[in-house]
Amino acid sequence: MDKKITIAIDGFSSTGKSTVAKQLAKELGYVYVDTGAMYRAVTLYVMRHLFVTETNFDVEAILRHLPFISLKFIFDEKLGYGEIYLNKENVEKEIRLMEVSRNVSRVATISKVREMLVKQQQEMGKNKGVVMDGRDIGTVVFPDADLKLFMTASTQTRAERRYKELCGRGNEVEFNEVLENVKERDYLDSTREDSPLIKAKDAIEIDNSELTLEEQFEKVVKLARDKIAEK
Ligand code: DC
Repeated sequence: MDKKITIAIDGFSSTGKSTVAKQLAKELGYVYVDTGAMYRAVTLYVMRHLFVTETNFDVEAILRHLPFISLKFIFDEKLGYGEIYLNKENVEKEIRLMEVSRNVSRVATISKVREMLVKQQQEMGKNKGVVMDGRDIGTVVFPDADLKLFMTASTQTRAERRYKELCGRGNEVEFNEVLENVKERDYLDSTREDSPLIKAKDAIEIDNSELTLEEQFEKVVKLARDKIAEK
């Protein structure tokens, strides 16, 4: 039987990490873990209990809520991957709302939040056979991952994708608001002190601005299969 490997997929927001990670996990029969969903679910919980804005951001108050947050991915047969549950409630849709996107990068700068989530992520991937996407998977969560991919695409392309996705879900948003949010999150994600988004030395960069989903899929499946064959 093939040896199982650990696959880390990092990159800026809306680079299509989750699409490719889900496809890859399905193809290989691996578990998919969307770590961005975990940061989003923590943010949603905090927003339900505190008034959080850029200027009203009380880290101590946020930390007091952490012990009451329980996160779980529950596998959905039809979808072929797990959806996130926050204290037993499926929050998969709600965590994608613009309000949550507006605050999540700030919540993700808090070291205690990262510590808690990184521990859970390492536990979920300890038996290998996992495709995990995020910002710090190849650098912090699994620095020894067997295959590391770093996804990129132009800011404009990413904002357009995100805008279409939000409109497709019936959210009323302005393109410029989405573009500004993508830029702001890029900035916050790559300049924060704890675990900033950087490409791991041994990560393979994939710029998908000009790739179709099929081309991208073919490319990553080949990389994964080659890596598995080496094991
Ligand atoms: O992948 P996403 O856009 O759903 O992630 C939401 C936010 O969570 C993103 O702006 C940065 C943060 N994040 C992080 O700091 N580390 C991760 N491993 C995943 C996400």
